[in-house]
Amino acid sequence: MATHTESQVKELQESALEHLWVYLREPSDMAEKGEPQIFVEGKGVHVTDALGNTYIDAMSGLWLKNVGYGRTEIADAAYAQMLKLTYMPMGTTTEPTIQLAEKIASITPGDLSRCFFTSGGSEAVETAMKLARAYFKRVGEPTRFKFISRKGSYHGATFGTLALGGTAIFPKTDYEPLLAGVFHGPQPNPYRCEYGGATPEECAERCANAIEEIIKFQGPDSVAAVIAEPVSSPMGAVVPGPNYWPMLREICDRYGCLLIADEVITGFGRTGKMFACEHWGITPDIMTVAKGITSGYIPMGGAITRKPISDAFIGSERVAFRHVITFGGHPVAAAASLKNIEIMETEGMVDNSAKMGRYLLDGLEELKQKHTIIGDVRGLGLFCGMEMVKDRQTKEYFPAEAELGPKLTQGFSSNGLILRGGDVMNIAPPLCVTSGEIDEIVSVLDRVIGQTARDLGAE
Ligand SMILES: Cc1ncc(COP(=O)(O)O)c(C=O)c1O
Repeated sequence: MATHTESQVKELQESALEHLWVYLREPSDMAEKGEPQIFVEGKGVHVTDALGNTYIDAMSGLWLKNVGYGRTEIADAAYAQMLKLTYMPMGTTTEPTIQLAEKIASITPGDLSRCFFTSGGSEAVETAMKLARAYFKRVGEPTRFKFISRKGSYHGATFGTLALGGTAIFPKTDYEPLLAGVFHGPQPNPYRCEYGGATPEECAERCANAIEEIIKFQGPDSVAAVIAEPVSSPMGAVVPGPNYWPMLREICDRYGCLLIADEVITGFGRTGKMFACEHWGITPDIMTVAKGITSGYIPMGGAITRKPISDAFIGSERVAFRHVITFGGHPVAAAASLKNIEIMETEGMVDNSAKMGRYLLDGLEELKQKHTIIGDVRGLGLFCGMEMVKDRQTKEYFPAEAELGPKLTQGFSSNGLILRGGDVMNIAPPLCVTSGEIDEIVSVLDRVIGQTARDLGAE
């Protein structure tokens, strides 16, 4: 049901166009399209805008609405904490913050056991980077300062994390010079393996070996850490072959550098395990999380360290980790997160992510049989990706003039689906999604992709 009249919406839009930066949008384009669209409500996988139009949010906001929209228990937990205490005196902490740190230690793999809370993902990754450099100062290896990440990855918007990322969606040219000492290896994308691997395993092996080559070339004693997302979003949910992460773990151990798993998207059930590293039985030295930690009900993130890493900062004031994020570990966010994790566990949402993820991927596979502009589909749990191509043989993308992305996005929206179209797409509905809702998502994809292909003369 509409909560606003058209003129009220227009007034809000005009104000937004004048006063607000809307992520990833440019004001004149929004003005031309009668946007930004303004949302007012959400329940489960559905969101409703101010004019009463309801959609399935197949992107979970930004991969974060894991338990779905509208869980009043989380609001209640946050409210109860707000009534009690909304911050703490300097150098102290609160009960929900401690309980959350302990809970996270109990659900993360291996001896990941101490959490530095932040307000979001970029800060979590910055914290991990600073921890890695400071750790090597503490253990007498001060020459280790370099980071190795991968082309096509995304690790955040701040200066340090920006240098780690490597995607055309966020060109670095506007912000250079960036943090020095960052080197990029290949993305283990089996569909477009930079090193020519013919199978996921072969691609994984070659891409992991390429990381080793960078370490050797840079000089192992200069490398602090290798950082990677278990499944990477910018190139469309790139799932590496099963040998990739065990190889990264082994390479980092061999050369004495730290392995940082950036689970900002993949953590808290997104891939069908509580944390994606569990798929490959490995424990990173530092894991970064955010997004699903509160299902986006309130901002929060964290960098979780293995015991030997955190122990290097214990003993005296001189060795302590000097790093403050004012809102890190906020008691209201901690209370919301605890309730969020409880819901996930009691309602079996991680298992549902695995089950519904397979069901969604089967649906996408069927679409691939039907539409030749779909070059590849892939996924792990409810983190699925799709690549659109002009030519399956050459894997060439459509030219920008074809406006594939805007056409798809518009088509999805007109059919009640929130999903960003493009050469690569992420499909990641909330973990509470039902098979009926997945059927709806797949059926809209089918209609819109078919229509777009016909418009482009490709079907
Ligand atoms: C893997 C990964 N790391 C870090 C970030 C940055 O998180 P935030 O936007 O909360 O700062 C993101 C954001 O999408 C991400 O996908």
